[in-house]
Amino acid sequence: MGIRIIGTGAYVPPKNVSNYDLSLTLDTSDEWIRSHTGVGNRYITEDGMQCSDLAAESARNVLAKTGTSAKDIDLIIVATATSDYSGFPSTACLVQEKIGASSAGAFDLSAACTGFIYGLETAANFLRSKSSNRVLLIGSEVFSRILDWTDRSTCVLFGDGAGAVLIEITEDDSDMLFSVLRSKGEGSSYLYHGSGGTYRPAANEKPLRENIYMNGREVYNFAVNACIEIINELKKSSGLSQKDFKYIVPHQANAKILQAISKRSGIPVDVFYMNIEHYANTSAASIPIALNEMNEKGLLERGDILLTVGFGGGLTYGGNIIRW
Ligand code: ACO
Repeated sequence: MGIRIIGTGAYVPPKNVSNYDLSLTLDTSDEWIRSHTGVGNRYITEDGMQCSDLAAESARNVLAKTGTSAKDIDLIIVATATSDYSGFPSTACLVQEKIGASSAGAFDLSAACTGFIYGLETAANFLRSKSSNRVLLIGSEVFSRILDWTDRSTCVLFGDGAGAVLIEITEDDSDMLFSVLRSKGEGSSYLYHGSGGTYRPAANEKPLRENIYMNGREVYNFAVNACIEIINELKKSSGLSQKDFKYIVPHQANAKILQAISKRSGIPVDVFYMNIEHYANTSAASIPIALNEMNEKGLLERGDILLTVGFGGGLTYGGNIIRW
């Protein structure tokens, strides 16, 4: 018995914003953004569309591609840091209603950009324990609503989007082989979204900070070390070596971070699947969007071994090994 990702889906909103577009209102340039981050474009959600709408579109996409009825889903997990509401209802509940998944439980998972990696291990354990037979795992983000669009050091980095996978128990040898999940709460002040929680309730005094705060240099240094630690730990616990992995599918935060990981670990850079140029950093959606793109391009064959790795606010970090 194993755990198999039987299909992938994705959705990005239609509005495309290039680096050049940003440079018209911000003191930045296509050259700076590309050379410091690898980002060329991002998609931005129009007014009236919410995180649950992007998530529901990505869900409909994977359901259509796999010929699955929403009524056959037992559990919906939405990994997000930008849910429709602060607290409740969960975005997963809103998705459940939107797609008509009448038999599904639903909850959100909060691990910022590492949310999809945490979600894969969570979904696998619901399946292994047999409390669910079919799990819909979605990463969905609308970071454009929590950015300060006058702060060039953060707003150029992020984009909106959603990616979804459908996961089932299988009789073949596909599996989620190993996961490593880690956190470093002592780094929580390096990356946060301060308003709307109990720390500074939005309805009372002026929020601590309405938009995302990021100490880019600290996050950069953390990210490189954290990803190398996870890759090494996944290799050690699985007994696999780098040549066994067809691709490393990393969280798409910054191409420079991935290049630094490649250089320090000795893993060739072309083993890392990268699409940050097109979407920017879509947080918990970045890995499922990448998996869907790889799937649609025919890059994934049954039996391929993939390694995911990522990091995010919390601070959280982790990775999974998947036999496709
Ligand atoms: N355009 C032009 N100049 C800029 C821009 C911009 N968009 N942004 C910053 N600069 C300037 C700065 O003002 C600074 O100018 P100064 O030297 O005159 O003061 C100069 O560029 C260098 O700034 P640094 O911040 O030192 O630039 P750095 O090379 O460190 O790159 C970056 C900044 C890209 C943010 C980098 O630190 C980084 O990638 N950090 C990690 C970010 C990350 O991955 N975040 C995702 C977290 S995941 C999650 O959970 C949300």
